[in-house]
This record gives sequence, structure tokens and C-alpha cells, in this order.
Amino acid sequence: MTVLFADVVHSMDIAAAVGAERLREIMTELVERAAAVVQRWGGTVDKFTGDGIMAVFGGPIALEDHATRACVAALGLQDEVKRLAFEVQERDGVNLQLCVGLNSGQVVAGEIGSRSLGYTTIGEQVGMAQRMESVAPPGGVMLSVSTARLVERHAVLSAPEMLHIKGSDQPVAGRRLVGAPERDRRVAEAPSTLVGRRWEMAAIEGLRERAINSRGAVVTVAGSPGIGKSRLVREVTALATTQGVDVFTGYCQSHTSDIPFYAVARLLRAATGVEGLDGQAARDRVRDRVPDANPEDVLLLEDLLGIADPEVALPKIDPDARRRRLTKLVNAASLARQAPAIYVIEDAHWIDEVSESMLADFLTVIPQTPALVLITYRPEYSGALSRVPGAHSIALAPLSGPETAALVSQLLGPNPSVGELAHKITERAAGNPFFAEEIVRELAERGVLSGQRGAYMSVAGIGDFSVPATLQATIAARIDRLDPAAKRTLSAAAIIGSRFRLDLLKTIGIEPDLNNLLRGQFLDQITFTRNPDYVFHHPLIRTVAYEAQLRSDRAELHRRLAAAIESRDPAAVEKNAALIAEHLEAAGDLHAAYGWHMRAAVWAANRDVAAARLSWERAVRIADSLPAEDPNRAAMRIGPSTMLCATAYRVHERVAGDRFEELRTLCTAAGDKASLAIAMAGLVIDHVYQARMREASQLASEAMALIESIGDPTLTVGLSFAAIRAKAMTAEWPDMLRWSQKVIDLAEGDRSKGNFIVGSPLAFALTTRAMVRYGLGRPGWRDDLQQALAMARSVDPYSYVTVVAYTYLPGILGGVLRPDDSAMRDIEDALQIAERSGDDLALSAARMTLGAALVHRHSEAERDQGHKLLAEVSEVFLRRGHNQPEVPIVDVYAARERARRGDRDGAIPFMRAAGDHLFREGLLQMWGIPATGVLVETLLDRSADADVAEAEAAIERLTAAPAEEGLVMRDIWLLRLRALLAQAHGDAATYAHFRDRYRDMAKTLGFEGHIAWAEAMP
Ligand SMILES: Nc1ncnc2c1ncn2[C@@H]1O[C@H](COP(=O)(O)OP(=O)(O)O)[C@@H](O)[C@H]1O
Ligand SMILES: [Mg+2]
Repeated sequence: MTVLFADVVHSMDIAAAVGAERLREIMTELVERAAAVVQRWGGTVDKFTGDGIMAVFGGPIALEDHATRACVAALGLQDEVKRLAFEVQERDGVNLQLCVGLNSGQVVAGEIGSRSLGYTTIGEQVGMAQRMESVAPPGGVMLSVSTARLVERHAVLSAPEMLHIKGSDQPVAGRRLVGAPERDRRVAEAPSTLVGRRWEMAAIEGLRERAINSRGAVVTVAGSPGIGKSRLVREVTALATTQGVDVFTGYCQSHTSDIPFYAVARLLRAATGVEGLDGQAARDRVRDRVPDANPEDVLLLEDLLGIADPEVALPKIDPDARRRRLTKLVNAASLARQAPAIYVIEDAHWIDEVSESMLADFLTVIPQTPALVLITYRPEYSGALSRVPGAHSIALAPLSGPETAALVSQLLGPNPSVGELAHKITERAAGNPFFAEEIVRELAERGVLSGQRGAYMSVAGIGDFSVPATLQATIAARIDRLDPAAKRTLSAAAIIGSRFRLDLLKTIGIEPDLNNLLRGQFLDQITFTRNPDYVFHHPLIRTVAYEAQLRSDRAELHRRLAAAIESRDPAAVEKNAALIAEHLEAAGDLHAAYGWHMRAAVWAANRDVAAARLSWERAVRIADSLPAEDPNRAAMRIGPSTMLCATAYRVHERVAGDRFEELRTLCTAAGDKASLAIAMAGLVIDHVYQARMREASQLASEAMALIESIGDPTLTVGLSFAAIRAKAMTAEWPDMLRWSQKVIDLAEGDRSKGNFIVGSPLAFALTTRAMVRYGLGRPGWRDDLQQALAMARSVDPYSYVTVVAYTYLPGILGGVLRPDDSAMRDIEDALQIAERSGDDLALSAARMTLGAALVHRHSEAERDQGHKLLAEVSEVFLRRGHNQPEVPIVDVYAARERARRGDRDGAIPFMRAAGDHLFREGLLQMWGIPATGVLVETLLDRSADADVAEAEAAIERLTAAPAEEGLVMRDIWLLRLRALLAQAHGDAATYAHFRDRYRDMAKTLGFEGHIAWAEAMP
């Protein structure tokens, strides 16, 4: 229990100045306001002492956090008095000030629950509170040692002082309360005793206990609004806090569900303890938290938290790599944390997509940490956080009839006059505790109930009034009854969001009138600074307050808010672009909103591709909705649509259908060939990734024709790589050669020309020209490859990874190159680069290349590692749905390793399926060549009944497949395979004939892989 004692400074002087009559008036006002504050924080005013007040926290209802509440109330009280003092100063010219003292102590058992605690029973506690009051500075709050001890973990206190108390020689220790920083919302609520939920509490407590030994758990709590999700979480966290467990909470809000990073940033800000710190201090705190992290990674984290130094540039890396690095950093920090913690994600049904997927990644390590994660959401949510593997889910059902009745009787109190009413409320509330609370509030405000919470009387007969039918209607009725100033304040707050700060209300032209809103628990105050934060007591109140407004009023507030957000923090404008766009869209300022969506996309494009796409989507939607006669409409539709098509392959999204066709029509009408070409390039890559090879090839030709018709060299150089890539997969060698050559010519040696999609189109074209050259047995390929590798290394990470993959994957599998030490070094470099700064596609390419190289190495360990890599890569391709054309060849080499370890029977079906697939798709001339090779070798190794015949058929199929004239890549493999076939037939002469021709050809062509394989043949 904590006792609060407050007293007016120099009340005798005030009495002398204004007269006893007026003093009584002032005191009455003061006491009334004070009582409201005390009550709001769950305390009871116990006594008016003539010129002061005594209140008790934790008396009638046992509160585990009585000291915190008393502190918060004491600060609130001082605020309130300051407001009153202002009026008194104006009118009476006197200075009204209050001293407050607090003291905490045990209450004698049996006293709890009695409505009035006499001086005699708790005299000692009161005495100390009074003494603290007597030494508190005017306007200040003094805590006794016992209170200070209870709140020092989360309140701001002065250093302990030794205080001399009038009439006593013994000094006593005390500490001044300077501020009560943000606490979670539970403090903000006059508490009722928890009703029911025993099973749920026990289940979560059980998991929390288990979590202590690094066996953490994720618990989801689903239920409809007001059913008690947050309350359950609060009960758990309150208990944990008393045991010294840290609790970190991230709230999702309805108006931020399209603001990328919003929720994850909030949670991480809480967890890193940077909330409320300014730039440099915040950054120092973060560095403290992750002392060993790579400095670049720390910059990424600071950017995510929104505390980055505006002077320091963000590292230039792909959003995918950024994501990987952040995940690694955060997960390492969670794993390193020894102390138990609880992380809460509230209202996940409003989470933004980026936060959702990032958090899902962070949750994967929770089972190995001493942490408990609690996620609340409404039943309609079915996103990633509702499907966390291994999570425990709790579906919160309505309270039972008796439970609801118990809650209602707690709210109403024991007076017999409310008995009948209690039935009616219980029935209507239907097990929703928030509904029950709101009905009681509504009835009290309407005057049907009089008295106060827990002690109501009913003055009306039961037939004389009605109870609103739904929770929303109840809230609406309460809002309706507010006076205009309070209503206006609530409306404006609802526009800002669930949580808002005082000054923002003022900035948008509202003279805040908060008292009634706080008293009626529409809002709760959660910080106690000069510019305090408030939250809506419940999200539904915000929703109802938002929807109750006239559309035009709402629009005006949204517009002002957008302007306020833009002007208040110029350094963060780009970061806030999505939010500004959101408000402008709600305001109906479509052109302005469009512009901000496009800006938001630019900001996001460096951070998260999906987030950028979301902004482009929103921009397209706005453009679509503009009237047809708007002169900018066409251009506004083309811009974001182009970007959506161009980046679709990054998120593996099918855009082949309507969006692209629509864009084509738009571009054609507007004569905008360049946009169409850019979109087409993206679509070609998407086709390739999805293994729609015929579409890819056809569109690639069309794209090249279009690009040629534009005749812009830079555009040609920059966009050709997509088409070349498609033609490489379909083994259309002449097209590939022609376009590679064109890029090489137009680039004129400039390694960065046309670098708007890949860093060095020239390096890429050299690689693909080399592929054609060796495939068709033409000279110059070795030089091309060397030049390309050297060039790409000096340009950008992505180019290097691409060139390495295009050099070594087909090179080694085709037998042109050998995975010697220098090749391995190149590939390992590429992998490292991809990991640190490349997108997921580049990373997959590098891993695939390394895997393929390793299974061609000699040591068992390397081959094992290669096998593992290939299996992983194949799984990723299938799961994420990209690199589909590579899936068969990756599977073939994984199967080859399986066969080598003895499981030929298990491996052959995979090889056979891959070969059949490539044949059906008409793709035998690229990956089909080595795939056939591996199948034939493995069949002949096994040499069971039908194997030799099957091998022969496979060779014939490859021979007969239509191919380019002079495709030596195929011819050399056929020689090898025919030799092996002859050997299987026991035909020594034919074997020797083919073997020798094979050896000669390998040497003539300089194909190092084949040279080695040929030499190994007996
Ligand atoms: N089991 C319960 N016993 C007593 N009061 C409850 C209980 N569950 C919820 N409440 C009260 O009902 C109101 C709404 O609960 P809340 O947890 O905010 O709902 P939700 O988060 O599910 O929307 C709060 O004031 C809360 O204190
Ligand atoms: Mg809630």
C-alpha cells in the first residue's frame, strides 16, 4: 500500500489574501480535481484534511503496483494543480502550490477491502507520508525510502537526500520524484480484479517458467475486441515485472498497417531501450547493446530504429542483404541475452507486411532463448505471426455467465438498487468484459447510475431506460454525450492514431480538452512530461471516434496532420513519406498523395522491395481512380506500373497477366516505349525464373526489337541482359551472340554504361558471349571470361556474383572449366559478397555455383558440402518459387552425389525425371546436355537389365534433338557417352575409337574439365 499526502503551501497566507470563503471555494475545486486524478490511477481519496488530501493506493483493491500508481497520480496531481493555480493567479493574484509526499508499507491483513482505512490502523505509514510532504519542495513530490525502492527501476528519481523534519532531530532519507517515464498501459487503468482466465494464466505462466532455461516460447492470444487479450497479457507481464523480468512491447495500429517497418521498429526500439532518447544518445545505447557487431550492420539497425545519423550514408547494399544482416544481428543479440524477457506484439492484425515477415524471422530463435513472446490479434488475422511454427495458441472465449456476472457486480458494487440492472448488463455484455465496462460507464454518464465505480446506486426503475445493443453503439453513445471541446479533441486524436502527443494536437489547430476524456477513460495518459503522450483506452474507441466524424471534418484534419508531420521533422521527411501519403489520401488530396507514395517507394526501394512495391501499388490505385479527363492520368498510371512490372521478379510475383497487358496498352497510347521496355525486361526475367521458357524467349525477342526501335544506346546496353538471359536458358545461341555483341559494341569499353539495373552490363555480355563461343567451338572465350571477371570485380557486388555464376556454373558442369583452386576462390568470394550485400537471387546463384563446383572436387568433405548446398538450394528454389529452370540440373547433381554414395536406385529416378522434363520443354541443348551425361554415366555404372538400353536411348534422344550447327558442347559429350556405352557393351575397339576422339577434341577445344575426365578413362 502507498499513502499519498498532499498539502497546499502557505494556506494561511492564501486565506489572509482571499478570505476564508474564497479559500474554501478554491479548496473544494482542488479536492474535486485531485479526487478525479487519484481515482483515475486506481487510488481512493481517504480524507480531506482541511487544506490537503490523503489518498491510498492498494487499499480497497490489492494492487501489486501501488507505488507506481501513486507516483503517476502524484505527478498528475501536480499538473492539475498547476492548471488550477493559473486560474487562481489570474483571479486572486495568489500563488497556489502543492507539496506531495509518498510512503509505502504493508497493510495489516484484514484491512484490505474495508472501504475506509482509519488513521489508527495505518498511522505509521501516514505519518511518514506526511513527513515527506512537509519536506517536499513546493510543486514537488518527495518519496520515502520504501516507495523509492519500489519504483526506482522505472521512475526518474533524484539522488537520496537526508532531510530534516520540523520537530525532530533525526534526519530521514528521501528522494524526489522527477519523472515517471512511460510505463505500459496497465498503469493507466483503474483496475478490476481479473475474472476467470485461470487456465490461460496458468498455461502462460507454465511456459514462462520453462522459458527461463533457454527454452523460450511463442504464445498467440486471439480473440475479438474487448474480450481481454491485452488484459491477459498485462496480468502476465505485471507478474513478471515484479520478478525483475524485462517486458518490451510493440503496438500495431490500424492506421499504420501500410507503413513499412512501423511495428518492428517500435518493438526493437523498446527492446534496445532507445525510446525517448535523442539521436546520439540513442545511437550510443544501441552500440552498447551490440558491442561486437559489424559497424555497417549497426548503421542498418539504427536506420531501422529511425535513429540513424542523417550525416552518415546508408551502406549500399541490396534490401535482401540488409534483411539478412539485420536478422542475423537481432537474432545473435537475442541468443546472447541471458536474462529472461517478455516481448509483446499487440494487435498483430494491424501489422505491416515488412514488420510481419521480419518478426517471423526473429521468432525462429526464440525457442533457444529465455524469452516469452506474446502476440495478440483478432480472429480474422491469418498472417505469418499466427502461424509461427511451434507456437502455442490461446483462443480467448467470452467469459462465462457467472464470470461476467462477477465482473459486473464488481463494477456496480453491492448496493441492492443495482441488482436487477446487473442482470441486464450481464446478459447484454455476453461475456465481453469491455462491453460490460462501457455499459456501466454509459449508464453512469447518463445518470441512470449514481456514485462511483464499485459503489453505484440506481435511481431509475429497470423499465425506464435501455442499454445500447452493441459495444460500438455504447461507445458511440458515450462520445455523443461529450461536450463539444472534448469531442473535438477526441476526433482529432482519432485522426492521429491510437497514440499521440499533446503538441501534435495543438499543431493541427486543436485546443486540447483532455480532462473529461481522461476521466471517462476514453484516453489514458502514458507519459508525464511537459509534452505527454496519450493512448486511446481501447482501439475500438478510436475506431468509433474516427467513424463518428463528418467526412469533410475528417479530411481537413488529415490534411493538417500531413502538413504537420512534414514540417515538424524535416530530416525524417522521406522516412515519413508513407505516413504522409496515407493522411493525404484520407484527406482526398489525390495528386499530393500520389507524389508522396512515389517518394515513399524511393525511400523503401533501398530497404525493402516489397515495401516499395506496396507504395507503387497505392500510387497506381490513385492514378486509376482519377477522372479520365485529368491530363496527368496516363503518365501517373505508367510510372508506378512500370516499376511494378520491372521488379516483379524480385518478389516472385506473377505479373504476366493483366498488369503488364494494361501497361502495354497505356504505353502504346502514350507513345512511351522506354517504360514499356523497362517493364518488359522485368517480365522477361520473371518468365525465366518461373521457367515459362517459351514466353520468356518470345518476349525477349519482342523486347529487343522494341529496344532497337528506340535506338538509345544506354537503354539498349542497360536492358539487354534480360533478353540475353532468357536466350541463354533456351540455348538460342545466335540471338545470344548477336545481343551480347551489340552490348559489347555499344558500351565502347565503358564498364558502367547502362548500369541502371545491373552494375556492369558489359561484363555480363562478355560472359554470355564466352558461353556462345565455347558452346559453338569458336575462339576467344577464355579472354572474354578473364576480362569479364576482372571487370565485374571492380564494379559492383551484384555484377561480380552474376559473372561468377554465369562463368563457373555452365563452365564446370559443361566440362569447359575445372574447379581448380583459383576458381574456388572466385566462387567463394562471390558467395561472401552475395551474403553481405546481394539480393536473395544473387545469393542463391552463388550457393548453387559453389555447390556445383564442390561436387566436382576430390575430397570427400568438399563433395559432402557441395551435396548439402545443392539440396538446400533446390529446396529454396521450390519454396520461394524462383530459379525454376535450374531446379532440374541442381537435382541431377544432388542425385549424382547420392548415387556415388551407393544409392543408385534412389538417385536414378530423379535424373530420369529431370531429363524427361528438359526434353519435354525443348531445353535439351543447355542443361539437358550435362543432365543426360550424368544419367547415362549412372545407368551404365549400375548396368542392371534395362540400364544399358535406357542409356543408349538417352544418348539417341540428345543426338536427335534439334540443335544449332556446330554445337561442340553437345558433340564432345556425345563422344564421351558413346565411349562409355561401348565399354558397357564390352566392345573394346569402339570404346578406344570414341575415347581417343574424345581426348583429342577436349584438347583441341581446350576444355579443361573434359581433358581431365578423358584422361581418367582407361
Ligand atoms: N478477465 C477479465 N476480468 C476483468 N476485466 C477484464 C477481463 N478481461 C478484460 N477485462 C477488461 O476489459 C477491458 C477490455 O479488455 P482488453 O484486454 O483491452 O481487450 P482486448 O485486448 O481483447 O481488446 C479492459 O478494461 C480489461 O481490463
Ligand atoms: Mg487489446
